[in-house]
Formats: sequence, C-alpha cells, structure tokens
Amino acid sequence: MQRTLSIIKPDGVKKKLIGAVIAVFEEAGVRVAAMKMKKLSREEAEGFYYVHKQQPFFPELVEFMISGPVVLMALEGDDVIVRNRELMGATDPAKAAPGTIRARWADSKQNNIVHGSDSVESARFEIGYFFAEIEIC
Ligand code: CMP
Repeated sequence: MQRTLSIIKPDGVKKKLIGAVIAVFEEAGVRVAAMKMKKLSREEAEGFYYVHKQQPFFPELVEFMISGPVVLMALEGDDVIVRNRELMGATDPAKAAPGTIRARWADSKQNNIVHGSDSVESARFEIGYFFAEIEIC
C-alpha cells in the first residue's frame, strides 16, 4: 500500500472539476485518505515547489498556484504514485494520453488541472507538507 499527494489546482477548481477529478480516482479504485481545500500563501507555494526554484517558469507557477483555492488530497492504493500519474497524463496536455485528466481538461503545461507526486520520496515530503499523520484516514 502506497500514498501520494494529489492537488486539484486553481484551474481545476475554477472549472468546477473537483467532483469529476475525484470520480476518476474513485472509479480507478484509488482511495481518498485525506482531503482539504486551501488557498495557498506565496510562501507555501514556493516551499512546495522548491525543486523547481531555478526553472524559468517558477515565478509564474507560484502566481498560478496562489490564484485561487486548491484541493489537497492524500491518495492511497497499490502502486498509487505511478497509477495517479497515469490517470493524470503527461504534464503537457498536448502529449497526454487520450482519456487522462490532463488530455480531457488541461489548457497548458502550467494550467494542467492536477499535481501528483513523482516518487516515494516526494510523496513523503509533499503529504507531510500539507497533512499531519492524524488527518489521514
Ligand atoms: P506539476 O506536476 O504540479 O509539477 C510542476 C509544475 O510546473 C507542473 O505540474 C506545471 O504546472 C508546471 N510546469 C512544468 N513545466 C512547465 C513549463 N515548461 N512551463 C510552464 N509550467 C510548467
């Protein structure tokens, strides 16, 4: 059993896709183990994406992530880190496999509806960044 962090980003919330995205996870047999809605502060967004600090898109990414509330979830299931990334599709929606969340609903590499942890180490960091163990069911 593995856990991963999922974020429905401000564009997903604005497009009223919270329910649709959660349905994708639940229909795939992925369990939502923790969930909360939050408007990130600039410091929280910068700290979360610190690995991308040197990237040219970092300032714009931070502005986007604080532009409205996000939905934070800890997902649980067998091999859920890879499975969640399969359900999301590639970062660039133009390259995302048909039927994936990003192929269906994302507008651009930045405005790509969802985030998902990319490794066991980042999942541990990212879940711990937003959730206390006691909040995970
Ligand atoms: P995410 O999976 O949350 O991880 C980092 C985010 O940076 C990514 O999704 C995109 O929202 C954004 N991102 C990655 N590459 C680019 C890019 N080339 N241009 C703009 N934004 C990007």
